[in-house]
Amino acid sequence: MVTEAHSRPSSHSAGSGFVGVVYGDVGSTALKFSVIHPVERNEFVQIPHDMCGLVVGRVEEVERHTDLSLDKAQLLGAGEAVDIEEKMSASVAIVGFRDDRDLLQVPRTPFKAGAQVEHADEELIKRVLGLRDDRHHGAYIGLLAGHGIKVYLDINAMVQKHVSVLAKTGGGKSYVTGVMIEELMKHHVTCVVLDPHGEYASLTEKGKVGHGSERFGVDPRGYRDVIQVFSPDIKINPHARPLKFTLSNLDARDILSLTGGGGKLRQHLSALRKTLDFLRQTSRDYSMMDIIRVLEKDEDPQSASLVDDLEYLAEVDIFAREGTRIDELVRKGQTTIIDLKGTPPDIQELIVNRLCTALFELRKVNKIPPMMLVVEEAHNFCPQVGQVASSKVFRTIASEGRKFGLGVLIVTQRAAKVDKNVLSQCNTQIILKVTNPNDLKAISSSVEGLTPGMEDEIQRLPIGVAIVTGAGLQMPMMIEVRPRETRHGGESVKVIED
Ligand SMILES: Nc1ncnc2c1ncn2[C@@H]1O[C@H](COP(=O)(O)OP(=O)(O)O)[C@@H](O)[C@H]1O
Ligand SMILES: [Mg+2]
Repeated sequence: MVTEAHSRPSSHSAGSGFVGVVYGDVGSTALKFSVIHPVERNEFVQIPHDMCGLVVGRVEEVERHTDLSLDKAQLLGAGEAVDIEEKMSASVAIVGFRDDRDLLQVPRTPFKAGAQVEHADEELIKRVLGLRDDRHHGAYIGLLAGHGIKVYLDINAMVQKHVSVLAKTGGGKSYVTGVMIEELMKHHVTCVVLDPHGEYASLTEKGKVGHGSERFGVDPRGYRDVIQVFSPDIKINPHARPLKFTLSNLDARDILSLTGGGGKLRQHLSALRKTLDFLRQTSRDYSMMDIIRVLEKDEDPQSASLVDDLEYLAEVDIFAREGTRIDELVRKGQTTIIDLKGTPPDIQELIVNRLCTALFELRKVNKIPPMMLVVEEAHNFCPQVGQVASSKVFRTIASEGRKFGLGVLIVTQRAAKVDKNVLSQCNTQIILKVTNPNDLKAISSSVEGLTPGMEDEIQRLPIGVAIVTGAGLQMPMMIEVRPRETRHGGESVKVIED
C-alpha cells in the first residue's frame, strides 16, 4: 500500500478559482470532488494531472450529502431543533486537454485524489473546446453556458452541410432561427425563408434593448435594407410583394400535382394534356379559366371532378400571365421571406415545391448565388410518413444541395415526423427543450457525440439554452442563445393580459 501525505499548499489557496478537492475512487474520464466553493452543473473546471498538465472537465452533477435521517426529519417536522451536518460533492466528466500537436486527448491514467479543482480558465476552455473568435466566417449564436465565452458557428459548414433546429412548441426555435438569419444577413449570405406563420418579416424591425443585451454584446438593429418579403396572398399580407407563378410554364403533371387529385390521375392527365396542347396552339398565355372553359366544352363526365379541382386553384389566385421571376426573388446577399400566412396548407406545399425545385435547378447552373434555404414547420413540407408535393425536392436538396452550395436550415417541433432522409443530412443541430420521447429518440439517433447525460439535459433545458453540435464545433456544447437584434415576430398571443 502506498500512502502520501497531502496538504493544500498555501500558495495555491490564494487562487480565486479554487472550488474543491478530488476524493474517493478516481478515474481517468470521470471523478468526484468535494465542493468547497460554489460550483454549478455544466460549468467547466480544470484539474491538474501529473502527466497531462491541466485537464478540462464538465460538472455533471452537484450533490448535497446530509446526515438527516428519516427519524430526524420527522422530529424536525414536529418542530424540534435538529442539527444537520452536510457536505457537497460534484461529479465531473473529463473533456480533455490539448497535446503538443494540439490534438484533443483524454488522460489514460487516473487523476490523483487530493488534486485541486478550479474554475476553468477561459483561455484554456477555448483551447480545449476548440472555440475561435472567427467573426469573419462565424455566426455569433450566443455564450457558452455558464461562461462569458462567445461561440461562433462556421457559416460555410452550415450552408454546405445543412442545419436542423429542433425543439418542442415554445422552445425557442423561431427565436434562435431569427438569430441565425441575422448573422447570415450580417455576413451577406443569400437567404430564402419559407415562413408559414408570417413570423420573419419582423427581421426588418429593430428590437428592444432587453435583459442581457450588454452581457451578450448585442446592439438592437433592423435589416430593412437587405430584406424583401413576398406572399401569394397580399390581401392578408399587404406589406409583401405578390408571389405568382406563370401558368404557361406548368405542364399537365405540374398542374395536377397542384390539385393533389389522386384517384383519377391518369385520365385527368390525358384530358389536361389535350387541353393544354389545344390552348398552346392558339396563344402563348392562358388563364386557369381558359383551361376550365375548354374542358367544360368537352362535356366529358370524367372531367367534372378535375374541373372542380381547377376551380379551387383558380380561386387561390397564385397564377398570373407573368409570374414572379426567380432572379427577382433571390438577390445576392439579400434575404427573401416567403410569407405564407393565410395560404391553405395544400397550396403552401405546391408553392414550396415549385419554388424549391426552381431554386435547386437554377443553383445547379449557377444562375442564382450560393444560399441558405430556411424551412419553418419542416414536418409539413417533408414528412416522414406520407407524401406531399414538396417531399421529393427536399430529399434531393438534402442529399445533393451541398454539392451546389444550396444549404437548408430545417425547423420543426416534431423531429420524429420529419423525413429521416432529410434530417440525417443535417450536420449542424441546434437542439432546444424537447420532451416527447419519440422526438428524443429521433434526435439521439441522428446526433453524433451526444452523451447520455446530454440526452437527459435536453428535457430540462431552460428556454433560451441550446445544445449545439457540428458547424465547426468539436463536441456538443450548451449555449445561451444571444438576444435578438430585431423584433421577434413569433411572440405568443396572450388571452389574459398581465
Ligand atoms: N433565447 C431567447 N431569449 C429570450 N427569450 C426567448 C428565447 N428563446 C425563446 N424566447 C421566448 O420564448 C417564446 C417562444 O419562442 P419561439 O421561438 O417563438 O418558440 P417556437 O418557435 O419554438 O415555438 C418567445 O416568445 C420568446 O419570447
Ligand atoms: Mg415557432
